[in-house]
Amino acid sequence: MTKTAAVVLSAGMGTRMKSDLPKVLHPVAGRPMVAHVTATLAALEGGLERLVVVIGPDMEAVAKAVAPHPTAIQAKRLGTGHAVLQAREVLMDSAADTVLVVYGDTPLITGETLSRMIAARKGNEDPAVVVLGFRPADPSGYGRLVTGADGLDAIIEHKDATEAQRAIGLCNAGVMAIDAKRLFPLLERVGKDNAKGEYYLTDIIALARAEGRACVVVEGAEEEMLGVNSRLELAEAERICQDRLRREAMENGATLVAPETVFFSVDTVLGRDVTVGPFVTFGPGVTIGDRVEIKGFCHFEGATVGPGVTLGPYARLRPGADVQEGAHIGNFVEIKKATVEPGAKVNHLTYIGDARVGAKANIGAGTITCNYDGFGKYHTDIGAGAFIGSNTALVAPVTVGDGAIVGAGSTIVRDVPADALAITRADQTCREGWAVKFRQRMARVIVKK
Ligand code: UD1
Ligand code: MG
Repeated sequence: MTKTAAVVLSAGMGTRMKSDLPKVLHPVAGRPMVAHVTATLAALEGGLERLVVVIGPDMEAVAKAVAPHPTAIQAKRLGTGHAVLQAREVLMDSAADTVLVVYGDTPLITGETLSRMIAARKGNEDPAVVVLGFRPADPSGYGRLVTGADGLDAIIEHKDATEAQRAIGLCNAGVMAIDAKRLFPLLERVGKDNAKGEYYLTDIIALARAEGRACVVVEGAEEEMLGVNSRLELAEAERICQDRLRREAMENGATLVAPETVFFSVDTVLGRDVTVGPFVTFGPGVTIGDRVEIKGFCHFEGATVGPGVTLGPYARLRPGADVQEGAHIGNFVEIKKATVEPGAKVNHLTYIGDARVGAKANIGAGTITCNYDGFGKYHTDIGAGAFIGSNTALVAPVTVGDGAIVGAGSTIVRDVPADALAITRADQTCREGWAVKFRQRMARVIVKK
């Protein structure tokens, strides 16, 4: 059984984000930052004994985003040390020997790094605290790691540091692996006599050293440690995350023609031998089967695509789109909450919403399922092998039977039986020579003027 518990600190509103949304709910690659952290923790090798997220009051939305993990509420934001104390009740009967503390605004932290910290906690010197350190290009704002002959001696926050301490390049990333037995006794002794007047979690290092316990530093790459405090840093986190997802997609057997123009969500699933053209966006909840060809400028969200499908250019799949094996979805086609069965073709300028398109049906250019009357949404059912002529309006609820043909330009308001022809065009009239006479008449009118 695993012996590690985790506390994720997420009580801060993040004033520098200038947002009504709690900071940790801002998404990176389609997932709230805090959910990146909880997902990484939950996937740790060996699992976690338990995981608790510390949130502020009125942050039900954060609690929802991290469910089913329990939350603890920090009524007043009195500092990171005070925040961890709020998890005491949830951890009361925990059998864990190590408590990981991670910040909810650090979405890029990897499981590999966290595992290295847990392993270091089990090291020979039995460290009371393992701190994740890094050497940022610009260390200002971060806590500095003061090291000596016996490892880590203290963390000094930027605002409290002397000039000499500020010259230290090694900084606190904000992740700690702490001896579970000592965590709360140490935290109880933390005061707030410092520049911010807050209870600093970082003070437990000096307190543990005073007890004669060792503290150690595990170093990691700056890219992983980015703590998001502003929209600029949010964009930077997005960039780093997208680069990771692009690399992963290619390593798993997808071709990205112009990787830097393709945007994924963390939950995007791509099959083997998928080709993705330039400027394609995968929103949350997209699964793409093997051998799918995605041409440029497509936008997908909440969609499932079967093997061998061709999509785009400029195709839009919205939530509930289920495009099955070998179907073709062409340019300027929008599919919403609809099943397109195997081998069907919807190739040009079409809206298919709340519908089924049967296997091998052919949907002509400019076909619209009129699914909404301003009040309700209604279903359109198109049978297998049906042929819908160009510029047809299918006014739902309506059914077109298997193998039926609808003439181009029709407005279909009643069901069409299988194998029937339905056509609603006005009859064409033809006047021989009319155009010649028209032109002569107009020429006379213009000369008179
Ligand atoms: C903290 C560290 C600093 C480190 C830096 C790394 C302390 C005292 N300082 O500083 O050493 O270099 O992170 O990014 O720990 N939070 C609460 N309740 C509070 C205060 C904060 O839940 O009362 C949460 C925030 O939501 C955030 C995290 O703790 O997720 C860190 O807080 P933040 O204010 O960003 O700390 P920093 O000043 O960045
Ligand atoms: Mg911060």
